[in-house]
Amino acid sequence: MTALLAGIEQSAFSVWVRESGSVWSYPSIIFLHTVGLALLVGLNVAIDLRLLGVARDVPLAPLARFFRIMWAGFWMNVISGTVLLASDATTTLRHPAFYVKIAFIAAAVTILIRTERLLSLDDLDGPLPPAARRLAWASLACWMGVIIAGRLMTYFAAAPELLTRIGG
Ligand code: HEM
Repeated sequence: MTALLAGIEQSAFSVWVRESGSVWSYPSIIFLHTVGLALLVGLNVAIDLRLLGVARDVPLAPLARFFRIMWAGFWMNVISGTVLLASDATTTLRHPAFYVKIAFIAAAVTILIRTERLLSLDDLDGPLPPAARRLAWASLACWMGVIIAGRLMTYFAAAPELLTRIGG
């Protein structure tokens, strides 16, 4: 397995991403990862806050149109994230933070699918089902987990010795 990961990490494309210094390599890919994050998590947080009663004058039904943009952000992050992962595979896959992040993404996306179903209901003008608030709080907690774990990954990538200090 390590040989396979080392092979991926030493591929011409991964070396270009990691070492070429081109603005189109790592800088553009982490930029796309950040744009994907902004579209997916930014819009999801706005919908969660609306479900929790913030800006309650804003009608819910039209918010369903944002899901297409959130899914585009999601796939942007899956593709850019896979490229980032490939370019540093042997180190990133040693980070506990990576697995924590992927677990939180899986949970957040499961909640996103349920929220999309909720907002496609016909009668959204009446009181919302209690599950709506639970979904919103769980979604906020999961995305917070993704961002903290994602940031810790970058932090550990910059200072791998920290990982050894915490027994990684
Ligand atoms: C789908 C939602 C995702 C979100 C919201 C997300 C969010 C983040 C965040 C906030 C960071 C830290 C960026 C920084 O501080 O510069 C990050 C870094 C990273 N993400 Fe994601 N990510 C997502 C998906 C993925 C996936 C699916 C993968 C891999 C399969 C991935 C791989 C990475 C890697 C390798 C880094 C570290 C980049 C570096 O070393 O600079 N991400 N992500």
